[in-house]
Amino acid sequence: MRLDYLTIFPDYLDPLRQSLTGKAAEGGLLELHVHDLRTWTHDRHRTVDDAPFGGGAGMVLRPEPFGEAFDALDLDGATVVVPTPSGTPFTQALARSLATRERLVFLCGRYEGIDQRVLDHAATRAEVVEVSLGDYVLNGGEVAALAVTEAVVRLLPGFMGNAESLVEESHEDGLLEYPVYTRPASWRGLDVPDVLLSGDHARIAAWRSEAARRRTAQRRPDLLHPSAAATAWDVVPAT
Ligand code: ADE
Repeated sequence: MRLDYLTIFPDYLDPLRQSLTGKAAEGGLLELHVHDLRTWTHDRHRTVDDAPFGGGAGMVLRPEPFGEAFDALDLDGATVVVPTPSGTPFTQALARSLATRERLVFLCGRYEGIDQRVLDHAATRAEVVEVSLGDYVLNGGEVAALAVTEAVVRLLPGFMGNAESLVEESHEDGLLEYPVYTRPASWRGLDVPDVLLSGDHARIAAWRSEAARRRTAQRRPDLLHPSAAATAWDVVPAT
């Protein structure tokens, strides 16, 4: 999979070179390209933003540097991912969907956001997905792009050493994951549940399944009754 990032803070994306993502890039499973949006400015101050038409607080990222970047990078066959608090909720299902794409191009906004015409124009050349990590506001799209990247690339065949752990984890079966324990069996007066030491695999599976259901009911009842909540499960076309 090829991943491109357009940002005015390229260093923010350094963590991509760490850990498993970095290894996958070194091994050729991922091709990472971080681009400084200011590459495509032409004034002395390398200006990327301006005041919003119609007034209001803050600054908006101008369209021209993005347009030139799109021409230089060629969006053909790419999916453009735009992290924004006004996007479709990012879920494991959406991560699975994005993991099937050959190329993702992340547009990292800052300030009040990106000129809407950038997204409208991109949509004439590529699939565009606006995603939100949750109902809160970050300073920009970089941290969200990192989170989306990590959730997506770990689903790629060959990325994880142990593919079984993908099946067991939170959200893969629609539930939160059961609590986990390791040695020692007793620690600071806290004991591991007996059943996990029993060696009885059927009882252990039943305990885990019930613990996952109980935890989900307590913390995320919306996951047990999805019809009550809006469930964005796949790429939603930009409107
Ligand atoms: N950019 C700023 N806030 C964000 C959020 N909650 N999700 C995705 N991108 C964002």
